[in-house]
Amino acid sequence: MQLPQDLQEALAGVLSQGSVKALRAAAEDLSRRYRAPASGKGPLLRAREDILAYLAVRLPATFAASHAALAQVKAQLPHFTPRTLLDAGAGPGTALWAAAALFPSLEAATLLERDREMIAAGRRLAAGASAPVLRAAAWDEAHLDQAFSAPPHDLTVAAYVLGELGQGAQDALADRLWRATEGVMLLVEPGTPQGFARILRQRDRLLAQGARTIAPCPHDDACPIIGSDWCHFAERVSRSALHRRVKGADLGYEDEKFSFVALSRLAPLPLAGRVIRHPQVRGGHVHVALCTPRGLESTVATRKDKDRYRLAKDLRWGDPTPWDAAEGAPVRPRDGGGKEQP
Ligand SMILES: C[S@@+](CC[C@H](N)C(=O)[O-])C[C@H]1O[C@@H](n2cnc3c(N)ncnc32)[C@H](O)[C@@H]1O
Repeated sequence: MQLPQDLQEALAGVLSQGSVKALRAAAEDLSRRYRAPASGKGPLLRAREDILAYLAVRLPATFAASHAALAQVKAQLPHFTPRTLLDAGAGPGTALWAAAALFPSLEAATLLERDREMIAAGRRLAAGASAPVLRAAAWDEAHLDQAFSAPPHDLTVAAYVLGELGQGAQDALADRLWRATEGVMLLVEPGTPQGFARILRQRDRLLAQGARTIAPCPHDDACPIIGSDWCHFAERVSRSALHRRVKGADLGYEDEKFSFVALSRLAPLPLAGRVIRHPQVRGGHVHVALCTPRGLESTVATRKDKDRYRLAKDLRWGDPTPWDAAEGAPVRPRDGGGKEQP
């Protein structure tokens, strides 16, 4: 996926303030700090260079993850036309950029963020946005591990922030956001076992409070993914020339792995299943691993069934299943061992 043109231009303008050398050093340092198991132990973004490095190397990926998650929400709730958005731990406003690209109905946004430099960077980016909701967003300097105001909003988001809070603050934030949610609440985390565990915990807690799962799960039952496996998705993100230079990378893209859950009091469209791994295409067969309302299933589409084979060949990881997979065999858990990523 490509960032929207206005976001690309706004980023290029803000990033022109930092030297590539300084950005590269800050990006390496930032990546090291994100990898360290330091949940809830103080700010990860410490200096202005850290924030510029975040814009250069993380914003494109976190944008892609929030955008992909919100696209699934839109598919499951086609009549959802949010007017207001509340983002907790908004960083530079990434999730609002993603939401504005998908929901032109958005009119007002409240962005909660503790870091003043980050707020300043977010404001500079938003000044060049084509969507009025970005230019008019209200930025609130708030500390999520203390009491903060969260009035009702149609769409509430906490993206890549739970992992920066202690357990008690994660629970309190999820509860507060849920109380403020009039439509959909979205939680996004890195697609690691730890990120997934944080998502699963809040899904379980909020289902107990009456929430419905909008995406990615096709049911409101206990998650069937257990043991060393973890539910996550991947989104391919184009790297700009500056992004490549700052990362010292040759590839023109990267794959961002993320876990998420979208919850609501609204009922989603029924979903036969969701593809939970890259489908494997092998000589006339497509093997598809699915999460379904009956649990984990695997199915094989062969050339004998032309329609099903054609549908299966076009399937991507994260897609809804275009057929009912009742005949599939149980899926074996994958090997684990993933690491926390920035
Ligand atoms: C990894 S960034 C994610 C930013 C944005 N949500 C995104 O998806 O790109 C985490 C953000 O949460 C903010 N944050 C972390 N802990 C916070 C706290 N206790 N109160 C307010 N903001 C916090 C950080 O300053 C940072 O901007």
